[in-house]
Amino acid sequence: MNLTAQQNQFLEEWIDFLKLPSISADPSYKNQVATTANWVKQALQKAGCLHTELIITQGHPIVYGELLVSKNLPTVLVYGHYDVQPPDPLDLWESPPFEPIIKKTNLHPDGAIFARGACDDKGQVFMHIKALEKMLESGPAPCNIKFMIEGEEEVGSIHLETFVKAHKEKLNCDVILISDTGMISNSQPSITTGLRGLSYMEVSVMGPNRDLHSGLYGGAVANPINVLCEMISKLKDENNRITIPDFYKDVEELSKQEREEMGKAPFSLENFKNAIGIADIKGEKGYSTEERRSIRPTLDVNGIWGGYIGEGAKTVIPSVAHAKISMRLVPHQDWHTISTLFTKHFTSLAPKGVKVSVHTHHGGYAYVTPIDHIGYQAAHKAYLETFKVAPIPHRGGGSIPIVPMFERELGVKSILMGFGLDSDAIHSPNEHFGLFNFFKGIETLPLFYTHYISLWKKERN
Ligand code: BES
Ligand code: MN
Ligand code: MN
Repeated sequence: MNLTAQQNQFLEEWIDFLKLPSISADPSYKNQVATTANWVKQALQKAGCLHTELIITQGHPIVYGELLVSKNLPTVLVYGHYDVQPPDPLDLWESPPFEPIIKKTNLHPDGAIFARGACDDKGQVFMHIKALEKMLESGPAPCNIKFMIEGEEEVGSIHLETFVKAHKEKLNCDVILISDTGMISNSQPSITTGLRGLSYMEVSVMGPNRDLHSGLYGGAVANPINVLCEMISKLKDENNRITIPDFYKDVEELSKQEREEMGKAPFSLENFKNAIGIADIKGEKGYSTEERRSIRPTLDVNGIWGGYIGEGAKTVIPSVAHAKISMRLVPHQDWHTISTLFTKHFTSLAPKGVKVSVHTHHGGYAYVTPIDHIGYQAAHKAYLETFKVAPIPHRGGGSIPIVPMFERELGVKSILMGFGLDSDAIHSPNEHFGLFNFFKGIETLPLFYTHYISLWKKERN
């Protein structure tokens, strides 16, 4: 790929952004997260945003910017996040997570930047900032534009939620534009029309009052780790259906026709397995792999610990065992209800001789964008123009809890124009984002504004 001088400049700035370790989950990075917020504020200013501010919260700062041009034009609110997931396990990174480097891969023959946050979501946020810069190069802003880039998405957006509820007037807008998802491939763009909800739990199983000698006591007392594993194994049946009573009660069932439409999206099971190095797939009976990871709810253990995990061997029966368990939810499932149902069921599985505690971490609702929304149609036209291929609607399996919250609190739909690929390894070691994707994003986003404004005017008349 031959880059122009401006593209090289954009790359250099993006690399500076990626060097900042904005790990929201780790309190020891608080100052670096704040530095990153400030960096984003300056970048917005530099791009031509007239008013920018840092909003201090109980958690990490929110970066806000606006460029208001006319009451007779629509307002687009751009949302994204500058915080990133912790980079561990560090030893699996081929280059350090906060020392961005460009490398070619099979799917990114033009090169990709490798760094934590390259795709999720600093790279995609930066596309929006540079798209603004490009738009302002060729004239005044085409409509009112607001930016809200937060620093706590990866930890549940709790303080952003409080801020949104208290500042509805300030955030007033016609549509929300977000690049924090992916697309099918570089030759088949897609627009994310759905996000799953989430309910994140932590459980503990408590046995004897201290770790015990596993020879003196083994076989005669309930071992909390064994018990925890038995309890977890009861959460799904032989068809991989979740056994929590009433879990599926509110699940949205898609029509046969909708499922058939979904099934038309290109998908290779062989590539899917090869890309993540598995010999076979596993999931709920009666549904395809793509359905299992988008329109169906699921339950997974994210981490499990207890007992001795140091070097060598120590013969011990642990006094406690813990696990973090998440459930991905679909439209109409209420995450508060699901958390309660989980708690009740999990507690009921405990045998005598242990105590169980269940704690709800955070959660969020699922989200759907209808394809007849003018924001969706504007996005469709934009991708079609730059990729020369019609994008297809695609339900994503991930969650962005603030998106359904925006809908509830502001009454506004979000359009999810993602440019990442599943293979970009978000949340994993060696996260990266293709240069092709980054520059295509910068090219495509301004067209969203153009088409959205004209559709908005048409809808108004
Ligand atoms: N950007 C992701 C969500 C995503 C990625 C949705 C790709 C669809 C496709 C976001 O940053 C994320 O990781 N969300 C978390 C939820 C949050 C509450 C920690 C998730 O989905 O695990
Ligand atoms: Mn994200
Ligand atoms: Mn993420």
